Amino acid sequence: MTMSKQKVLLQLIILLIVIEVLLAAATSAQITSPPLPSPPPPGEVEVKPGCQDKCGNVSIPYPFGTKEGCYLNEDFLITCSSTYYPSKPFLRTSDIEVTDISVDGKLYITLDTAAQCYEKSGQLRAGYTNYLTLSKFFISNTDNVFVAVGCDTYSYIFGYKNGNYGYTGGCTTICDSIDYVVNGSCTGIGCCKTPIAQGMTSFDVRARSYYNHTNVSSFNPCSFAFVVQEGKFNFNRTMLGSDYLINAKLPVVLDWSVGNETCANVEKKQVMNYTCQGNTTCNDFENGYGYRCKCKDGYQGNPYLNDCYDIDECKDPDLNTCKQKCTNTEGNHTCSCHKGYHGDGRIKGEGCTPDPTFVIQIVVGGGDSSSGFHNMRNHVVLPVSDGR
Ligand SMILES: *[C@@H]1O[C@H](CO)[C@@H](O)[C@H](O)[C@H]1NC(C)=O
Ligand SMILES: *[C@@H]1O[C@H](CO)[C@@H](O)[C@H](O)[C@H]1NC(C)=O
Ligand SMILES: *[C@@H]1O[C@H](CO)[C@@H](O)[C@H](O)[C@H]1NC(C)=O
Ligand SMILES: *[C@@H]1O[C@H](CO)[C@@H](O)[C@H](O)[C@H]1NC(C)=O
Ligand SMILES: *[C@@H]1O[C@H](CO)[C@@H](O)[C@H](O)[C@H]1NC(C)=O
Ligand SMILES: *[C@@H]1O[C@H](CO)[C@@H](O)[C@H](O)[C@H]1NC(C)=O
Ligand SMILES: *[C@@H]1O[C@H](CO)[C@@H](O)[C@H](O)[C@H]1NC(C)=O
Ligand SMILES: *[C@@H]1O[C@H](CO)[C@@H](O)[C@H](O)[C@H]1NC(C)=O
Ligand SMILES: *[C@@H]1O[C@H](CO)[C@@H](O)[C@H](O)[C@H]1NC(C)=O
Repeated sequence: MTMSKQKVLLQLIILLIVIEVLLAAATSAQITSPPLPSPPPPGEVEVKPGCQDKCGNVSIPYPFGTKEGCYLNEDFLITCSSTYYPSKPFLRTSDIEVTDISVDGKLYITLDTAAQCYEKSGQLRAGYTNYLTLSKFFISNTDNVFVAVGCDTYSYIFGYKNGNYGYTGGCTTICDSIDYVVNGSCTGIGCCKTPIAQGMTSFDVRARSYYNHTNVSSFNPCSFAFVVQEGKFNFNRTMLGSDYLINAKLPVVLDWSVGNETCANVEKKQVMNYTCQGNTTCNDFENGYGYRCKCKDGYQGNPYLNDCYDIDECKDPDLNTCKQKCTNTEGNHTCSCHKGYHGDGRIKGEGCTPDPTFVIQIVVGGGDSSSGFHNMRNHVVLPVSDGR
């Protein structure tokens, strides 16, 4: 009986110690961890008042718009077709489907492939062309590549600048057996690719064959050629024998800009209709003419529609560089440390180091009497160092 009473007492003491250790841990965590960040605000699409901000699931930010008064000018018209569910956006009045628009100057569309398919006899079974004609925007030379797929295939891309002939490119892909075709490899055996030139507003793509696929008909009846977003087309052997590329809608990236002047000219001549708003910079545009507006660093918003506004970096852990305390400033933020710490407070800088007295108390606990410090914290920390 007395034994069990002692046991209970022992358990009680252990419990008390455990609670104290937990308390100590909780207290020190409160002191060393930075304040909990709140989640970043949801992305908002900025449009003119009364304008449609979405078509189906695609956001339509200004300068694009679905009707007069909503877009900057007709080049930025998006036709939202409700004959689909969900509705689908198309570029101006074309049948070019838009899949995404970014305010930083990219327009994402999908296009078919050019193809030629042959019967075993060498008769042409089906031919498809692939061309794109733009009036204002440009085919991004940095985001797209030209690709051909086939085993008896040569291909062309004819590029045009504003309707005038620009350049011819192309590549060849040959294979006499499927065994040498490597999945994922686009280097001339089953698949070939080549960059496209800068400044093109239109292209016309052709797929051709040397022997009408007669030597390879058992595994590859078609030649294909197309422009596609770099990294979004992963060649594999199955494509040589399947209809996949005949029906595929492949992603292509366009560059858009406003006006037809450079930033220097626009700013110098104080051109009418200069579109960049407050807290923005004007950026020249490499792949063609016109300029782009961009919010200054530390600001966000739609630079074509409203003044860009200050980002509160302190609210977004991905944006602020602070270890402990963050204070938002106009266009930037500053970092500092809690009481009892020193340093510049920046994660990639000095960070925050506990002041000397603090180090002794936490790391060494009450073991070091040379510091001469004896306060509440020594008491709380002691059980932790005892537990080691
Ligand atoms: C819209 O939905 C389609 C499928 O319904 C999806 O493939 C596409 O990525 C979506 N686009 C955006 C911008 O969310
Ligand atoms: C090969 O195809 C072309 C059409 O692309 C056709 O004019 C030609 O007659 C074909 N050759 C043979 C041998 O079938
Ligand atoms: C492919 O077939 C043609 C006849 O259709 C022949 O002249 C040619 O030599 C063959 N090429 C190869 C690489 O086998
Ligand atoms: C090959 O590509 C097609 C079309 O993208 C895809 O459906 C198929 O799953 C791929 N096969 C492999 C093994 O990756
Ligand atoms: C290549 O992909 C095809 C299907 O797309 C698959 O059947 C084949 O096993 C793959 N080959 C290799 C070497 O990965
Ligand atoms: C730029 O636009 C103005 C007005 O639309 C036009 O008069 C001018 O010819 C254009 N310049 C070029 C280089 O396209
Ligand atoms: C300025 O914008 C107005 C209205 O959008 C348009 O009618 C006019 O042609 C534009 N002027 C220039 C120089 O682009
Ligand atoms: C923000 O402040 C930091 C530190 O003072 C500085 O390095 C950085 O360049 C500033 N950023 C901007 C956008 O002014
Ligand atoms: C820049 O942004 C600040 C803060 O959002 C705002 O108060 C100010 O009016 C803006 N400046 C201009 C020139 O738009």
